[in-house]
Amino acid sequence: MRFLKIVLVISLFLCLFFAYHFSSNAPVTENEIIRDDEEVQANRSAKQFIKDLDADRTTYVARGAHSKAHACVKAYFEINEKIEPEFQHGLFSLPGKTYKAWIRFSNGKGGMKGNYDSNKDAHGMALKLFNVYQHGLERHTGGSETQEFLMHDSPVFFVANINDYNQFLESEDKILYFVKGINPFKWKLRELMNALETLKPPPESPLKTQYFSNTAYKLGPRNIKFSARACSLQDKTSSDEKSNPDFLQKEMAKELIAGEGCFDFMVQLQDPKKYMPIEDPSIEWRESDSPFIPVAKIVIPRQSFNSPEQREFCENLSFSPWNSLDTHRPIGELNRIRKEVYKASSKYRHTQNHADVPTNLDW
Ligand code: HEM
Repeated sequence: MRFLKIVLVISLFLCLFFAYHFSSNAPVTENEIIRDDEEVQANRSAKQFIKDLDADRTTYVARGAHSKAHACVKAYFEINEKIEPEFQHGLFSLPGKTYKAWIRFSNGKGGMKGNYDSNKDAHGMALKLFNVYQHGLERHTGGSETQEFLMHDSPVFFVANINDYNQFLESEDKILYFVKGINPFKWKLRELMNALETLKPPPESPLKTQYFSNTAYKLGPRNIKFSARACSLQDKTSSDEKSNPDFLQKEMAKELIAGEGCFDFMVQLQDPKKYMPIEDPSIEWRESDSPFIPVAKIVIPRQSFNSPEQREFCENLSFSPWNSLDTHRPIGELNRIRKEVYKASSKYRHTQNHADVPTNLDW
């Protein structure tokens, strides 16, 4: 009997091990693989986001994801003086140039109810560089005047593809989505681990952590992921402050009165000979296969950012990974559907709130 129990436990362990390790079959390609049903899938996600927005709404409609902002702050995006030739595309083709930017720091949760900073959550950093053509960069087809980089503080996304993402959005029980049915080979254990890693305790401050793109982007002819890592990950917030529901905003306000904030902006090149797929952001591109290389510094000068006007401006900004130069455009299926979903979410909330997207971004 004891022997049988041991065999059962070992079999279960092996099942879980194989289900965990072999649950992605995304091929490694340098070019995108376009699905036939992407328009349908994009409409499906947009519809679900709007439904959730409505379910959560008060009189005010917030963003469909990353609803709570800690702040929008003014920043400089300074391209490094020395950049290897293979990174010199788009913004990075002009070493030493500086771009002005806004950065919106946020919690990942959609909706404002119970959105406390002490909750386990993803934490977002969205950069909007403006006047990007002022230094004579070649104009691109998308018509965007800004270059935006959207990241959160986990290196992997918690779903592999758009069909899974829609199923997750539509499922009532978010845990059962990962472990549905009795066949462990069909469980999404790797994605569940990613989700648990994404829902992490808050950082000491939005200025003291590392953010990642998760999904892939172009850098000229190459495929990359990008990341922003705080220049200093030190300093501890006192535990009293962490009980305040808005402590991340308060901590950042304190830090930016005392001095400036700083991040290294880095890119990681895809090596097509390694397991670095572009169509499945639930797979981490290992740094041992290809390290992140610094290409710019993000400097957040001393400032106070909490005026009601600035908070309203921040709420009305609209970010999207598709506000981009062609040379830096997003790739991969989850990125492709973001194009329509972000537009739909932004249009809906601006219409409902009778608000306009700010056009004058300069400071
Ligand atoms: C894959 C990695 C992803 C990252 C790193 C990411 C990051 C972010 C960030 C930082 C924001 C806040 C933007 C702001 O400050 O205004 C945001 C907003 C949003 N995200 Fe994502 N996101 C990801 C994937 C997705 C996907 C796959 C979808 C849906 C298909 C999605 C839907 C949204 C929506 C609807 C908003 C709100 C847009 C608005 O109303 O302006 N995100 N995301």
